[in-house]
Amino acid sequence: MHHFSLSIQVWYRQNGRILPWRATKNPYKIWLSEIILQQTRVEQGKAYYIKILKRFPKVEMLAAADEQEVLKLWQGLGYYSRARNLHAAAKQVVNDFEGVFPCTFKDILSLKGVGDYTASAIASFAFDLPHAVLDGNVFRLLSRYFNDPTPIDTTIGKKTFKQYVDELLDVNDPATFNQAIMEMGALVCKPKNPDCENCVLNSSCLAYNEGNPLTLPVKAKKVKVTKKYFHYFIYPSEYLQLIKRDDQGIWKNMYEFPVIETTGAMGKNEINKQLQKNMKLMRLINCLRKSIF
Ligand code: ADE
Repeated sequence: MHHFSLSIQVWYRQNGRILPWRATKNPYKIWLSEIILQQTRVEQGKAYYIKILKRFPKVEMLAAADEQEVLKLWQGLGYYSRARNLHAAAKQVVNDFEGVFPCTFKDILSLKGVGDYTASAIASFAFDLPHAVLDGNVFRLLSRYFNDPTPIDTTIGKKTFKQYVDELLDVNDPATFNQAIMEMGALVCKPKNPDCENCVLNSSCLAYNEGNPLTLPVKAKKVKVTKKYFHYFIYPSEYLQLIKRDDQGIWKNMYEFPVIETTGAMGKNEINKQLQKNMKLMRLINCLRKSIF
């Protein structure tokens, strides 16, 4: 076995965190954990994983649930399309796979919300299939280990790093290899303060020996950060008005207080003007409500 693969697995067995989804081979539970962890930190994800599994111990129960209930359980995690896809994929498992979680890479990949990374994670963790995972942690670790400045957010970058990890993968134990490489990225080869002194790969890590780990990985595109201002109008009244968002954004179909979104902060005068207008509307709604009920 490659020195790299052996070292990270020995390290992982001694230093890997004990996490609930690591103590199971159940593909449903592993899939749920991976969807949660796509955009969520491990510590926050743990509580949601336990809560959702308690309510839906089996995929059939999740499939039979009301979408609103799934969204309610997801509340606070953000990126709510994940919850909608989770629900849709559970229905796929029940309707297209007779309730048995698919066990080939191709079939796992056909589930809604499951991309290359998640399919590789499920295939290896649940079924010991030889698919290497390539997530942010793995990109960072490999770009440093090989001191490779190929931008990771390009087609050539994805291909290059996929080749590296496929080459290193321990096909005899892909599950442990994948957990180990991600855990090394999360706990040792960290973005800002990598613990190179204690890293089991430091004797062969090219960035540590010949370059600068902190300059890697390289990205081609600059992340564009835009500011958005949300002005919420919450009226003290017998009833609280909530409005369903009908846009295509990340909060599609979620409820919120009446809001005005702008690219700059609204002035006091303009806020007051809107306030008067909305107050009039609220009074009208309350009058109508009283006359109806
Ligand atoms: N992030 C994504 N998958 C993970 C896993 N299985 N364990 C810890 N962090 C993860």
